[in-house]
Amino acid sequence: MNPTVAVVVVAAGSGSRLGYSLPKALVSLAQRSILSRSLDPVFALQREVQLIVVAPQTHFALAEQMVRETAGRASESCTVVIGGRSRQESVAAGLAVLLPSVETVLIHDAARALTPTSQFEAIIDAVESEGVGAIPGLPVSDTIKRTDGFGTAVATVDRSELSAVQTPQGFPRAQLEAAYANPTGDFTDDAALVADAGLRVMIVHGDPLAFKITTPWDLRRAEQLLIAAVGVALPRTGLGVDAHAFASAPAASAAVAAPAPAAGLAAATTSAPATTADELWLAGLCWPGETPLEGHSDGDVVAHAICDALLSASGLGDLGSVFGTSDPRFDGAHGEVFLVETLRLITEAGFRIGNVSVQLVAARPRFAPRRAEAEGVLSGILGARVTVSATTTDGLGFTGRSEGVMAIASALVYPG
Ligand code: CTP
Ligand code: MG
Repeated sequence: MNPTVAVVVVAAGSGSRLGYSLPKALVSLAQRSILSRSLDPVFALQREVQLIVVAPQTHFALAEQMVRETAGRASESCTVVIGGRSRQESVAAGLAVLLPSVETVLIHDAARALTPTSQFEAIIDAVESEGVGAIPGLPVSDTIKRTDGFGTAVATVDRSELSAVQTPQGFPRAQLEAAYANPTGDFTDDAALVADAGLRVMIVHGDPLAFKITTPWDLRRAEQLLIAAVGVALPRTGLGVDAHAFASAPAASAAVAAPAPAAGLAAATTSAPATTADELWLAGLCWPGETPLEGHSDGDVVAHAICDALLSASGLGDLGSVFGTSDPRFDGAHGEVFLVETLRLITEAGFRIGNVSVQLVAARPRFAPRRAEAEGVLSGILGARVTVSATTTDGLGFTGRSEGVMAIASALVYPG
């Protein structure tokens, strides 16, 4: 690998104005990190470049993992180094690992995560053709006032002389290294350091998309832009609750007393729930020796709550409206039947499951010994991670009096 261009992405800042406990570059931006998104335009460049990422010391391993995952097969062309206390120190740490073949160096803020590839190309072209530093800038549209420092405007600055500058900022390697060898102060961008060394820096037209994510408002704007322009879809959550009573009569006689209605007549004749199972079915498992639940189906509240959560997250209604409580096809049906059908419906609607979490509220059966088994069965049916927890209500309410059981589920689904 002998690239003549290097891109140093500085991502070591804490992001104090954003206000997260994580360093800014690691904060999520529409399902991925700001850092990962900021690397997309670099990997989209036609030409071979050396990529150097300057990462925060406190979260170095995580940052490096994000870089490697984003790079994929291009991972060998990336070097990740630890940054410093100031932006300038972080850039210096990146410059220390430039390959010998590099002649043009671009410095880029990870915080400008939506910068288009064309902006990188324009800067590389300008540096290579002019042999001087080149930085992207935009005209200032607001009227700018000079103040006395205490909140009073004292003069209007001629904005035609001003440019709001962005990154990447590109320089011939020798000029940048010379400026960094003898810094005369701590500057917030590289052009200031190079210009201070008496070298010319030209401005090329920037792009509004290269704005810097600094505040929570900026992060929100970036997210909205990604959703609208790039078509990134955010995950959706859904909630589902279900409850069923324990069968009051012994299971076998209840089953005899409530024969399945003939197909076709069910909608007209069935209104009250009938005990259709002669064994307890819960969380996709059969519980021999336990009292069964009443219901048109097998009464598996865990499975039903999951279906409701998934349908709700996908905007497809709920169990009752989709399956119909009196549909003879689901007479006595086990939870698996509803789960498989729900999975088919949400997949058909273009969603995939992130995960499902469900809690069983029941005084009996004792769930803990079979939790792992239930999670395995439910995860297997849905092809996604399903976790199940269980609780009692300290003798309170219908679950506490063992009149029935209840389940609450939440689901995360991704569109597209
Ligand atoms: N940066 C860096 N090392 C530092 C400080 C800043 O690599 N010690 C990087 C940031 O990660 C960011 C870019 O320089 O990509 C621009 O800095 P800024 O937007 O000011 O980020 P932070 O310094 O992290 O944010 P804040 O000033 O709000 O704390
Ligand atoms: Mg800063």
